Amino acid sequence: MKILITGITGFAGSHLAEYALNQQDVEVFGTVRVRSKLDNIEHLLDKINLVECNLLDPFAVRKVIETVRPDRIFHLAAQSFVPTSWGAPEETLQNNILSELNIFEAVRSCNNPVKIQIACSSEEYGMVYPEETPIKEKNPLRPLSPYGVSKVAQDLLGYQYQASYGLHIVRTRAFNHTGPRRGEMFVTSNFCKQVAEIEKGLRKPVIKVGNLEAKRDFTDVRDTVRGYWLALEYGVPGEVYNIASGIAIKIKELLDMILALSNQKITVEVDESRLRPSDVPILLGDYSKFNKQTGWKPEISLKKTITDLLNYWRDRVC
Ligand code: GDD
Repeated sequence: MKILITGITGFAGSHLAEYALNQQDVEVFGTVRVRSKLDNIEHLLDKINLVECNLLDPFAVRKVIETVRPDRIFHLAAQSFVPTSWGAPEETLQNNILSELNIFEAVRSCNNPVKIQIACSSEEYGMVYPEETPIKEKNPLRPLSPYGVSKVAQDLLGYQYQASYGLHIVRTRAFNHTGPRRGEMFVTSNFCKQVAEIEKGLRKPVIKVGNLEAKRDFTDVRDTVRGYWLALEYGVPGEVYNIASGIAIKIKELLDMILALSNQKITVEVDESRLRPSDVPILLGDYSKFNKQTGWKPEISLKKTITDLLNYWRDRVC
């Protein structure tokens, strides 16, 4: 079976490639942009096939689909950092929506019986009221960032291409996920990297933070990508599934958990530039629909995930 991962050089993409390589008879292909950084997949380079492709170029995308002829596509490539979407809303919308459109159109024109997973996001739920938690897939979508809007568009485009053309598209709404290789701008990684730098004496024992009041539902990335795999094994085309842990933690508690893993005495300082024009107050997912369909449930505890991530940074900062 040939699988194609868009965004294979990214955080989730690299973990999905690892997961796929551990399955029987799977050949892994991944799209990369010119001059993409390969750090996350350095250890996999002799086992995977990389194809250069700008997903915003419909001709290039079509060529990749025609030459690789994948049986499964995992579409993970996206501008995925919420704050970037405030500064560059046009780029975020264009990138996230048009890349997916190009994939759907290429698959349609090549007449490939390919299964496609679309990485949607819990950010689509946006403004969620306490009585709506844990959030089910049927909850209204009230995105609070251009990124959230781009993911709603990706999500609905997936619905529409399945409904209109019968493409085998399964949508997954992943809640926050983290673990080793997480980009350093995201909260878990950012805090762990700062702590690792403090431990090495590379910065003063002061950790910079943003909004500590938000609540998020974290899954280990290794559990999340197993979910992506199962979505195409057992998911119903046209359906959408939450992938979540079912537990929400305040960012303040997450910070305390990270600080408790270090023997340093660290003070906390709010950095105003880390605050957002609006921040989703609570994301707490109900993953029972996905569990019923695929048997998936989270297996790795947040404590282990955070410990692995902190150790990842301890090995890297110098
Ligand atoms: N990045 C960051 N840095 N976030 C901080 C900080 C900080 O110093 N301090 C507090 N936060 C808060 C943010 O305001 C937000 O409420 C929460 O920590 C999580 O922020 P991020 O890690 O940047 O993730 P996100 O929730 O905005 O989005 C992530 O999850 C989505 C799924 O819900 C991303 O991975 C998205 O791509 C993903 O779709």
